[in-house]
Amino acid sequence: PPPQAPEAVLPTIYAITPTYSRPVQKAELTRLANTFRQVARLHWILVEDAAARSELVSRFLAAAGLPCTHLHVPTPRRYKRPGLPRATEQRNAGLAWLRQRHRHLPPPQAGVLFFADDDNTYSLELFQEMRTTRKVSVWPVGLVGGRRYERPVVENGKVVGWYTGWRADRPFAIDMAGFAVSLQVILSHPKAVFKRRGSQPGMQESDFLKQITTVEELEPKANNCTKVLVWHTRTEKVNLANEPKYHLDTVNIEV
Ligand code: UGA
Ligand code: MN
Repeated sequence: PPPQAPEAVLPTIYAITPTYSRPVQKAELTRLANTFRQVARLHWILVEDAAARSELVSRFLAAAGLPCTHLHVPTPRRYKRPGLPRATEQRNAGLAWLRQRHRHLPPPQAGVLFFADDDNTYSLELFQEMRTTRKVSVWPVGLVGGRRYERPVVENGKVVGWYTGWRADRPFAIDMAGFAVSLQVILSHPKAVFKRRGSQPGMQESDFLKQITTVEELEPKANNCTKVLVWHTRTEKVNLANEPKYHLDTVNIEV
């Protein structure tokens, strides 16, 4: 067969997933991997919130059958408090890896970056939509902001505002699951990162997007932002009230 023209090659989707150890971690990662395995040319950047790579996640990824990069960085203890943004250091570690990798690769570098939290629910259609991101694309997110959904309001193909029930004053009233960024934009704004200083929960997305784009420039996806293709689901805390204090079973089972 003749060599493929560069434009025939699908842009790689880089999914940065922060994750931390807890009883539901492996279940969440299993669900996510089952979705990602069905997406062509997806590279999973899994970043553990930990001082070292855990055996659980390492074994999981080895068996997952997905192109992936396994990173880790611990959140400093002082930032592990309710009311403070989560996963700042982990997303930045993913960004740093992506920029470093592409320093060594020749162009064309067709790629799209997406921040995929480990507990959300992603339709396969979402990945088709984000794949064509030129700079920064946006779409609705279900089950977030105290409403059934939040969405960018679109007029004549442009984002002109936000339908949201929470802090409508945000410059980009959008959840982390509601946007994707082209690799070119990530590489041409090498200093764009998530900031701890002065950042409040719910403002991380705006603080980041302000560094790389404007509202006027956003590309609406999902039929002019009229379809929910991703849900901000949150997993209930597990009841371990009957877990014995000391190990009682005859075998040691990873859950
Ligand atoms: C909302 C947003 O959807 C998140 O993108 C945002 O990071 C978060 O608020 C925030 O407050 O910073 P929410 O469902 O409340 O999400 O947050 P989680 O799902 O608990 O955490 C977001 C991601 O960070 C998950 O992938 C989770 O595994 C990871 N995480 C959470 C850590 O790596 N370390 C932690 O200590 C907590
Ligand atoms: Mn979540």
